[in-house]
Amino acid sequence: MSTEPRTVPSAITAAATEQRITAEVIDRIAPSTDPRLRRIVTSLITHLHGFVRDVELTESEWFAAIQFLTRTGQKCSDERQEFILLSDVLGISMLVDAVNHRQPSGATETTVFGPFYTGEQPLLPHGASILKRPEPAPTLRVSGHVRAADGKPLAGALVEVWQVDANGLYDVQDAAIPKGHLRASFRTREDGGFAFLTIAPVTYAIPTDGPVGELLRGLGRHAMRPAHIHFMISAPGYERLVTHIFVAGDKYLQGDAVFGVKNSLVAAFDRDHVEFDFGLKPLAA
Ligand code: BEZ
Ligand code: FE
Repeated sequence: MSTEPRTVPSAITAAATEQRITAEVIDRIAPSTDPRLRRIVTSLITHLHGFVRDVELTESEWFAAIQFLTRTGQKCSDERQEFILLSDVLGISMLVDAVNHRQPSGATETTVFGPFYTGEQPLLPHGASILKRPEPAPTLRVSGHVRAADGKPLAGALVEVWQVDANGLYDVQDAAIPKGHLRASFRTREDGGFAFLTIAPVTYAIPTDGPVGELLRGLGRHAMRPAHIHFMISAPGYERLVTHIFVAGDKYLQGDAVFGVKNSLVAAFDRDHVEFDFGLKPLAA
């Protein structure tokens, strides 16, 4: 065996690496790779390498990013999804939503799912309260209809709702709130109607005690979301609708921390009642 020191081929200089590494990484993808995975990874590498070249990322910036992503993962638990929150504040969640839900006329617009859905709740009867403890706030009746985009009423659709408590926290964020408070499921009646009792939703801040909070502060951004009630509506033969209704007049409608507001989802809330009808998009044949 030769004891000569191994020489690096002359073509592999720093300048050559900078030029050709993107193509080399992409070329390593095996021919047998799933075509969708190939497309996604090829585009991801192209954009990430382009980003590094564009900003001439320093080594300390690269390491700060590694540490930021590490802290983001460490903040995740069964009840906290800091990566979804990161995606939300960067507008990625709403962009994914937009490219996946180009709604036809008659179908309600979609918005961000958010990290606080905790699974399907027990069904409550039409008109029931979704409170698990009394609240000092006045009662709000929420009612409406679920229809197909063509206007046909949808009986038996599953209407799931969730919202924050009057203190601006979800049950999973505050041990003093009973689990399942301000969450429920309903089935629409023959005419597609649903109704429940709750309290008025409030403007609240998304969690800022983790890396996403650091990022918002670093960018001089606030963490507020305009008051809203979450809805997820499912019916056989239709795309599941994930959306909110927002309270007209909220001062954060123009600056939602997660970019979720759409004009068509803003509803006039009376002191004790709001009515909102939903349209579902048929599944592609
Ligand atoms: C929410 O509305 O529950 C929510 C959405 C995105 C990020 C944080 C919270
Ligand atoms: Fe919310």
